[in-house]
Amino acid sequence: MLDQKARILIVDDEPRNLRLIEAMLGPDGHITLTAANAAEALALVARQAPDLILLDIMLPDRSGFEVASQLKSNAATKGIPIIMVTALDDRESRLAGLNAGAEEFITKPVDRPELLIRVRNLLRLKEYSDFLADHNRILEKQVRERTATLAEEIQERKRLEQEILEISDHEQQRIGRDLHDSVCQQLTGIELMSHALRKALPPTAKNEAELAGQVAFYTREAIAEVRMIARGLCPVIVEPDGLMSTLPQLAETVTRMFKVTCVIECPRTVLVHDNNVATNLYRIAQEALSNAIKHGRARRTEIHLTADPQELVLTIRDDGQGLPAQPIRSGLGLGIMQYRANMVGGSLVIEPQPTGGTVVICRVPLPALSARG
Ligand SMILES: Nc1ncnc2c1ncn2[C@@H]1O[C@H](COP(=O)(O)OP(=O)(O)O)[C@@H](O)[C@H]1O
Ligand SMILES: [Mg+2]
Repeated sequence: MLDQKARILIVDDEPRNLRLIEAMLGPDGHITLTAANAAEALALVARQAPDLILLDIMLPDRSGFEVASQLKSNAATKGIPIIMVTALDDRESRLAGLNAGAEEFITKPVDRPELLIRVRNLLRLKEYSDFLADHNRILEKQVRERTATLAEEIQERKRLEQEILEISDHEQQRIGRDLHDSVCQQLTGIELMSHALRKALPPTAKNEAELAGQVAFYTREAIAEVRMIARGLCPVIVEPDGLMSTLPQLAETVTRMFKVTCVIECPRTVLVHDNNVATNLYRIAQEALSNAIKHGRARRTEIHLTADPQELVLTIRDDGQGLPAQPIRSGLGLGIMQYRANMVGGSLVIEPQPTGGTVVICRVPLPALSARG
């Protein structure tokens, strides 16, 4: 700014004083504006802020102090440096000027070299503070842009993670169905043929008949195993009551395999028309139970499934040792449960139970269900 011309507003009701100060500043190449009273000065500042103001105290409409404090209390004008023009040794006025926020004082009669030095210093200060303010604005803008980019990237990562989860679910379901529909059918065919072979063999071929019987037996076992694998991959039967009918099987498996009591409570019929929703809820129950056994060392677990007109609620409680005191490091399982809940438009909380142990509650609003159903 010092290289450019500065705009300096001189406020004084004495035309003679205005002319004198204008003449003093002139050789430094500044542009001078003049105002004869407070109202004129404020109107000029509002139109285009000057770089500096020389402000007389005694103005006809308001005092210079009032003008100064009004300008200093407005964010748009508080950065404009003000030099108050006071009478020589007028201590009171200087204090009042300081109080109003003025940066400098100059005494009447104005001494030209002193005026020029004070003006130069204040203009330089103003230049630095303008530069800093600009710099801050640029930095803030960059921070805002970077934050927005990061938020977008996080959003995109979440979307991709959800997509991966959905794809892997679909793939698992497809493999589960294929195993069930093709491999199991073929094995059933082999089993029937083995029975037929055993019956068709003459009574003399006892050993061969026994072998055929064993083939049938092992084939039956293989069918049972493949069915179990298929059920794990595609857990929920594609029927509206699939979730209701599959959760008891999950409870039974938990009780049988881990010797941990698992009680299922589903007081009323809960129909879930979207198999994707049912599968996600099933997986949430499976993970919550696995955590109860693995981390909570629970002896007893409960699954509740209820629905009212507003929402479907799946709750899994355990009587285990409860969540750790320190914040849970974000494990994969909890994260995936959250994703699954979000994916079906629901929410999930995991919290300690007042009576000890842990509870996982997944709520799915029913409009989301019917929209998907
Ligand atoms: N039912 C629970 N009882 C006690 N602690 C639990 C339970 N569920 C989760 N936690 C705590 O939360 C942590 C994260 O769980 P999770 O994300 O499922 O991780 P992981 O993949 O190790 O199972 C566990 O390490 C455990 O400390
Ligand atoms: Mg887990």
